[in-house]
Amino acid sequence: MAASGVASRRKCEEIILAGRVKVNGEVVKTLGTKVGKKDIILVDDKPLVKEELVYYVLYKPTGYLTAVSDKLNRRLVLDLLANDLKKQYRIFPIGRLDYDTSGVLLLTNDGNLSYRLTRSAKEIEKVYQVRLDGIINQEAVMKLMKGILLDGIMTKRAKVEINSFDRKNNSSLITLTITEGRNRQVRRMCEAIGFPVKKLKRISFGGVNLDGLSVGEYRALKPHEIKVLYSL
Ligand code: URA
Repeated sequence: MAASGVASRRKCEEIILAGRVKVNGEVVKTLGTKVGKKDIILVDDKPLVKEELVYYVLYKPTGYLTAVSDKLNRRLVLDLLANDLKKQYRIFPIGRLDYDTSGVLLLTNDGNLSYRLTRSAKEIEKVYQVRLDGIINQEAVMKLMKGILLDGIMTKRAKVEINSFDRKNNSSLITLTITEGRNRQVRRMCEAIGFPVKKLKRISFGGVNLDGLSVGEYRALKPHEIKVLYSL
């Protein structure tokens, strides 16, 4: 189902468990049920039609929610996509950026790729440009690099580069590379070392960057970029 562009793997599991899937007329709620080419699969009583798989990178602006719907009616990243595109494909974001974070966000209807890139076992490099409150020091940098205890679990080793200090405004600009995607990870790591995040932008995800894009713009990934993401 995920490979057919229905939704992400996690969402597909929810759809199956909710009893919305029929195989040859029977509701199937067992995850991992094997089907063949001859089986007729219905999702919400509609035939499962394999969608062409599409892949985009969006320069997410701040003030947009990374979700496909919101009870509070806030602006969604999908609002930035052309209506035609959304009509044709069931596109969803791969992973998440906070409402106040800008930068690289991958979007696709390929549940398999999304699953591969967001599994916690996968160490995909995500690079963030971080404006910190305060003038960071070497001791704090070492702590970020070695790992920070968040919810009782250490973060994995990170790379840190100090880019510049703004002594007038008492802030620092660093580039932080992490290989995990825990909830509000960068903000919590920086908070933990005493340098709260003032501004956060993701400049790369698995090597895909923002080159050629302005805030709010998106572009289709090139075949070689998709290949690289699948190889990670
Ligand atoms: N880490 C965060 O704290 N926020 C994001 O949006 C991404 C990574």
